[in-house]
Amino acid sequence: MQTDRPEATKPARLAVLVSGSGSNLQALIDALESQQLPGAQIVLVVSNKADAYGLQRALKHRLPALYLPWKQRAQSEQQLVALLRLFEVDLIVLAGWMRIFSAEFIEQFPRRIINLHPALIPDDGSGATFTSSDGSIIPVFRGMHAARQALEAGVKITGSTVHYVTPEVDAGPMLCRQEVPILTGDTEDKLQERIKQVEHSLIVEAVQLWMRTA
Ligand code: GAR
Repeated sequence: MQTDRPEATKPARLAVLVSGSGSNLQALIDALESQQLPGAQIVLVVSNKADAYGLQRALKHRLPALYLPWKQRAQSEQQLVALLRLFEVDLIVLAGWMRIFSAEFIEQFPRRIINLHPALIPDDGSGATFTSSDGSIIPVFRGMHAARQALEAGVKITGSTVHYVTPEVDAGPMLCRQEVPILTGDTEDKLQERIKQVEHSLIVEAVQLWMRTA
């Protein structure tokens, strides 16, 4: 028998971690304010940069927002763990967060840290190549400047992936992903901007998927 009951989801108190403009944080705020993420709320925004515009976005929407200096990783991670526990965070969303966490930090939040990465990452996160929808085999661009890496490699398709964070950088299992074609005349900025347009719905979808995962 079919019912009209909505799919069960778990509640999600989100911490969103940013290092820069925070347009993906904004996408989450907009989705929450337009009821696209029932059961979710942003309880904390953290930036490792004092002047990150993401902090301003959070404050405009009256969200708790903190600058956490990141000079000594072990100390900063300890402070972050305390904050995440204090705010009873269920899911940590890395939305343009440009710092690498230690394995010790990650192990404290199994399947509770997701990262938005501006390139295509395979389903299980591993491997050096990815087969795109048109059958072409492209390298997996991990780490910094993924859009630049795609342009330099001369590939025709790149994209963005939301994946679980594991100790190996940009190599955790995928939650969702979308391709972005590379166009003639693309510069790094133009490509990065088109990737971001896709990411603004991808990050919302990722939180929805996470909430539906038992
Ligand atoms: C996004 O494109 C995200 O994929 C990327 O930073 C941008 C942040 O944009 N993340 C990484 O490169 C992580 N290695 P935003 O600050 O406007 O949301």
